[in-house]
Amino acid sequence: MYQTTKLMLLGSGELGKEVIMEAQRLGVETIAVDRYEGAPAMHVADRSYVVDMLDRQQLRDLVDKERPDLIVPEIEAIATAELVRLETEGYRVIPTARAARLTMDREGIRRLAAETLGLPTAKYRFADTYEEFAEAARAMGFPCVVKPLMSSSGKGQSVCRSEEELSRSWQIAMEGGRVQQGRVIVEEFIRFDSEITLLTVRSVHGTQFCPPIGHIQKDGDYIESWQPHAMTEGQLEEAKRIARTITDELGGAGIFGVELFLAGGQVYFSEVSPRPHDTGLVTLVSQNLSEFALHARAILGLPIPEIKLTAPGASRPLKADAEWADYRLLGAAEALALPDTQLRIFGKPVTKAGRRMAVALAAAETVEAARERATEALGKLKLEGV
Ligand SMILES: Nc1ncnc2c1ncn2[C@@H]1O[C@H](COP(=O)(O)OP(=O)(O)O)[C@@H](O)[C@H]1O
Ligand SMILES: [Mg+2]
Repeated sequence: MYQTTKLMLLGSGELGKEVIMEAQRLGVETIAVDRYEGAPAMHVADRSYVVDMLDRQQLRDLVDKERPDLIVPEIEAIATAELVRLETEGYRVIPTARAARLTMDREGIRRLAAETLGLPTAKYRFADTYEEFAEAARAMGFPCVVKPLMSSSGKGQSVCRSEEELSRSWQIAMEGGRVQQGRVIVEEFIRFDSEITLLTVRSVHGTQFCPPIGHIQKDGDYIESWQPHAMTEGQLEEAKRIARTITDELGGAGIFGVELFLAGGQVYFSEVSPRPHDTGLVTLVSQNLSEFALHARAILGLPIPEIKLTAPGASRPLKADAEWADYRLLGAAEALALPDTQLRIFGKPVTKAGRRMAVALAAAETVEAARERATEALGKLKLEGV
């Protein structure tokens, strides 16, 4: 029997699906885990399991049963303390259990970046009670950004514009976090010109960077990304310095999505994902090796030659606007009739308002043309409840 590497993916969304496919191309045995049946990566993995990954015991029981060579977190919501323990016992967690633990909580990664490493970030304060929060917001000045410590995709996040909005922002944060009730971060509102993801790969070849990806966020979720994003030499150098500093500190092997704000001459660190980034879906059409291929190579200890932009590219996710137990996706033929256009259709079992269901990807001669083409392709797609 072929003796190969066994990879367990924790979280089985559309990004994980691409990681699994890349690993399989290299002969890896793959196991997909998520908390619901029929998650995208489960469609392509060798085996899959439905477990509550925030439950320590369930996580441990599954790892003990499968004994994977690589444990690859795909989401933040995992019992990361258990990952730390598993790593101590000899399991390999990608990139490291500490990176997974620090980045699941905004306080861990922000304090590390700003206080330990001295990286430039928005000013911030933490608060546990409404009174502390109101005081922190006043100290930060209005508008300020309020986020629960544990949340993703903009859940529980709001911009607080005045004294009158304090109680509303507090309410949103208390209801939107993964842990109900709790601590929040209050951040200075950065009036950035643009925001980027700098994909950074750590592998046997050291640290490599992908060309910067520009993106637009709405309600905490990305609605458009493109590559390359135009930046000055100085901005790019500073962005790389920040990305190198934070990823060196987190260590291990794999791809990281370093989120940065560009404001005039200033580059701010915002946050980092120790895994492929959703805005990086564009690399499926714009690079010689996509972020998923890079992640697979890096975690398997395989070489990564020079990362090249093959063409300017853009991505536009398709989101559902209603909840449907049965649905169809229309317009794929029209979208794919456009030149240099691709789709990824995730095949999620049900829709929910705001849930990402597919993505339109396009390459072209220029970033502007790629953005127009991806937008045109997205415009052909339609979700329909049946
Ligand atoms: N301090 C800030 N100033 C201005 N905009 C911000 C700030 N923090 C977050 N944002 C906006 O909100 C988006 C989501 O915030 P982020 O901290 O990345 O949360 P998430 O973990 O949900 O992605 C960012 O990409 C950015 O557009
Ligand atoms: Mg983010």
